[in-house]
Amino acid sequence: MKNNTSNFNNIPFQTLYSNEMITARVRELGLQIASDYIEKNPIFICVLRGGVYFFSDLTKAVPIPIELDFIQAKSYVGTESSGNVELIKDLDADISGRDVLIVEDIVDTGRTLKFLISHILSKKPKSLEIASLLFKEGGEAVGYPIKYVGWNIGKEFVIGYGLDYDGKFRNLPGVFLYSEE
Ligand code: IMP
Repeated sequence: MKNNTSNFNNIPFQTLYSNEMITARVRELGLQIASDYIEKNPIFICVLRGGVYFFSDLTKAVPIPIELDFIQAKSYVGTESSGNVELIKDLDADISGRDVLIVEDIVDTGRTLKFLISHILSKKPKSLEIASLLFKEGGEAVGYPIKYVGWNIGKEFVIGYGLDYDGKFRNLPGVFLYSEE
């Protein structure tokens, strides 16, 4: 069954998670995270650009004092340099001795996250946990526990709520299955 995203030029992608479903799941994760981090003054790190909507909603769903920072990496795939990840924007904050939570849109091969985890661990945080809206089959290769996951999904390519195809569709309000038709 296909659900039209009617206010987005009737783009006929199949809904995987509607905005309402995401809101409900983010609220649950927010409360769980708040109870784990109460009185810890944690710093939450948004992985740009895909994590921006999840980060924005999740941080508002965590009713305790937190600080925010941003990081960006670029992964080169399908080229000679396949597997290379480069840091585009580093953190501004000093995170040594801090409780840190990385907020990601999706863990696919886990390559980007693996790079970010090792980069952030080199800054000697007190603790490091990961929250990812989606966790794709095979993401275990990241080799680090993903403590907070919105949903586990299969190998399908998804768009919306921060996730893009060729730079587009990030601003769709839910998560949709991408298809060329
Ligand atoms: P990795 O393979 O885990 O390193 O994923 C790297 C990045 O690729 C993610 O942070 C996303 O930005 C992007 N990505 C992976 N799978 C998808 C998808 O299904 N849709 C859109 N972007 C994706």
